[in-house]
Amino acid sequence: MNPIAWIRWLLVVPVALAIAAGVGLAAGAPARAFYTTRYEKQPAVGTLARLGRLLFMDPSLSASGATSCSSCHDPARAFGPPDGASVQRAGTGRESPGVRAVPSLTYTQTVPAFTEHFFEDDGDDSEDQGPAGGRTWDGRAATAHDQARLPLLSPLEMANASDADVVARVARAAYAAQFRAAFGEHFFEDPAISINGVLLALEVFEQSPAEFYPYSSKYDAWLRGQASLSVEEERGRKLFTDPMRGNCEHCHPSGMRFGALPQFTDYGYVALGLPRNPAIPANEDPGYFDLGLCGPFRKDLAAHAAYCGLFRTPSLRNVALRRVFYHNGLVTSLRDAVRFYAERDARPDRWYPRAADGSIQKFNDLPTSNHRNVEMDLPFGEAAGAAPSLSDADIDDLVAFLGTLTDGFRTTEAPAPSTGHQAPASPSPR
Ligand code: HEC
Ligand code: HEC
Repeated sequence: MNPIAWIRWLLVVPVALAIAAGVGLAAGAPARAFYTTRYEKQPAVGTLARLGRLLFMDPSLSASGATSCSSCHDPARAFGPPDGASVQRAGTGRESPGVRAVPSLTYTQTVPAFTEHFFEDDGDDSEDQGPAGGRTWDGRAATAHDQARLPLLSPLEMANASDADVVARVARAAYAAQFRAAFGEHFFEDPAISINGVLLALEVFEQSPAEFYPYSSKYDAWLRGQASLSVEEERGRKLFTDPMRGNCEHCHPSGMRFGALPQFTDYGYVALGLPRNPAIPANEDPGYFDLGLCGPFRKDLAAHAAYCGLFRTPSLRNVALRRVFYHNGLVTSLRDAVRFYAERDARPDRWYPRAADGSIQKFNDLPTSNHRNVEMDLPFGEAAGAAPSLSDADIDDLVAFLGTLTDGFRTTEAPAPSTGHQAPASPSPR
């Protein structure tokens, strides 16, 4: 894990406690204003998490009355997409299709704030590793409470007209009395204050360890010396970490760092050059491109051509629970998601359409001028027609390994007599 992430991890619990104690978070003006909101009463963390859970599951917070946060972020699937649709439909009449796949919300408690210039604190702090962190696939939301406001107000999602609209819905909910009991009798009278209480409850809920970061996968048990990997899983782990083979570790770190369990993301931004997904209605317009960091949803980096096509590296924890993969939800099985890495360059005909002249339209979800941004290092980079970087058996092994990252594993083995498995440390991210 990178140090920002580590520091952020250390902050999660104290921050939640500080919130409860009414102490502000000195992390930039907007955050300070948010966290210093004066409520009549300061709810305890547990109360906030309980209220946040009620909000998260409540479809009456949407204009349609049919969409809750949990409609898209399914608690049974690590708060990721509920089904195999590339994008979810929501909005006033549930008629508006989204433009990106729903990310999992587990293990997002460590996502650092967005920075355009990330410096790894590894003794060589001279190397600018580029953009990192932030919420959503393009990092445009700085905090979980800013993030929660996006779907509540987005016409494509829960379609509320304003903060006051959201607050009015909470005030009408069956659990409104619980909000008054927690924040004070007059909580709903000033929407400028009550909206912050609502967003705070969602934010704290998303930081509940039992539901959002239990670290209860087989792989965690292995790191703790309480489980062993099967032969196939262990082969997959070696491929995953080997810089000359899968090289997955480079962007999805799997080792302990500073005593913390790994998140399987370095929060960096990369263009994988995925094929265009015709199932996303916005893609019917040949002039429309989802370019991630450089737009169209975030506007501040639109002038940086080198950022076009880059998306935030997701955590791979609980990835086997997903049925759609990558920011555009094109891929619908984990095996195919891994196969993409093996075949993108060696077998491009299996992934990209052909133009009228028979040529393969590689990287067809990016304008030609942005193709140079696409990642070419291992496991990519073979010539077309060469042997894929990973064989079919390698792909199976990697899929088996990724299956060990699903939470809820029950340990059957007795703990090892030693203090724990000698887990390898992650090498520095790029
Ligand atoms: C209609 C489907 C839909 C609904 C409803 C929805 N989300 Fe999302 N959520 C998404 C999509 C799609 C993204 C990715 C957006 C992007 O990258 O631009 C996302 C991203 C997020 C993220 C960022 C995760 C990360 O890895 O950075 C958080 C947190 C989140 N949503 C929380 C919520 C909360 C809280 C609610 C309810 C108030 C909610 N969502 C309602 C579809 C939805
Ligand atoms: C250079 C960095 C990099 C390397 C190396 C890398 N990944 Fe990724 N990975 C990413 C990024 C970035 C995404 C999201 C890309 C997008 O959706 O546009 C991603 C997405 C994924 C996903 C889909 C997750 C989801 O939630 O949709 C899987 C599965 C995955 N990677 C597995 C692997 C495996 C297995 C390897 C090694 C064979 C690997 N990755 C190597 C950066 C990397």
